[in-house]
Amino acid sequence: MKKLNLDEIIRRRRSVRMYKEKKVEIELLEEIVATSRFAPSACNIQPWRFVVVTDKKKVKRIFSESLGGIVSNKWAHSAPVFIVACVKKSLMVHGIAARYKNIPFHLLDMGAAIEHILLKVTELGLGACWIGWFNKGAVKKILNIPRSIEVISLITVGYEAEQDKKRERKILRNDEIIFLNQYGGRFR
Ligand SMILES: Cc1cc2nc3c(=O)[nH]c(=O)nc-3n(C[C@H](O)[C@H](O)[C@H](O)COP(=O)(O)O)c2cc1C
Repeated sequence: MKKLNLDEIIRRRRSVRMYKEKKVEIELLEEIVATSRFAPSACNIQPWRFVVVTDKKKVKRIFSESLGGIVSNKWAHSAPVFIVACVKKSLMVHGIAARYKNIPFHLLDMGAAIEHILLKVTELGLGACWIGWFNKGAVKKILNIPRSIEVISLITVGYEAEQDKKRERKILRNDEIIFLNQYGGRFR
């Protein structure tokens, strides 16, 4: 496969919700998650921690015990791997400073790290989907995650099934989101 440049990777990335049964090599998973190390974070605190779940029984338990409800995410039944994105919050940066500024720095840090992961997945020709609707408590229990660590998101990873249907998405135009010199200012 031809190596994609950054712009091609960014534009190609889509949420993949149906996977082949094919196993994802552990080396690839490490390469994917390691990209998070180079993400920016408030005060370079690097609060991200990731549990990569490949054990079939645990994958099944995460699916059956943490998904369901209003946004059911039942499509995730074919996912061979879950990456569980966790945060180790710092009292100073994510507690005191974030409260003072009223900005959840830990979520910004995690968003940047997770996007690195999604882009690397795309570069390697695999598929992934970010899951925000799940039961955090159930995941903590299944994976023995300590009380001091907060679970933020799940990411499914696998080889995309040919039958995967991409959901339609609308991409806003430049002039709807980029302004020059003042909010609403025409860029060009
Ligand atoms: C914070 C966050 C939470 C999300 N949660 C879910 C989810 O629970 N289930 C799901 O199917 N997709 C989820 N998504 C994926 C979005 O639906 C998807 O990124 C969006 O529709 C744009 O489509 P694309 O990723 O193919 O560009 C989530 C994405 C983000 C950033």
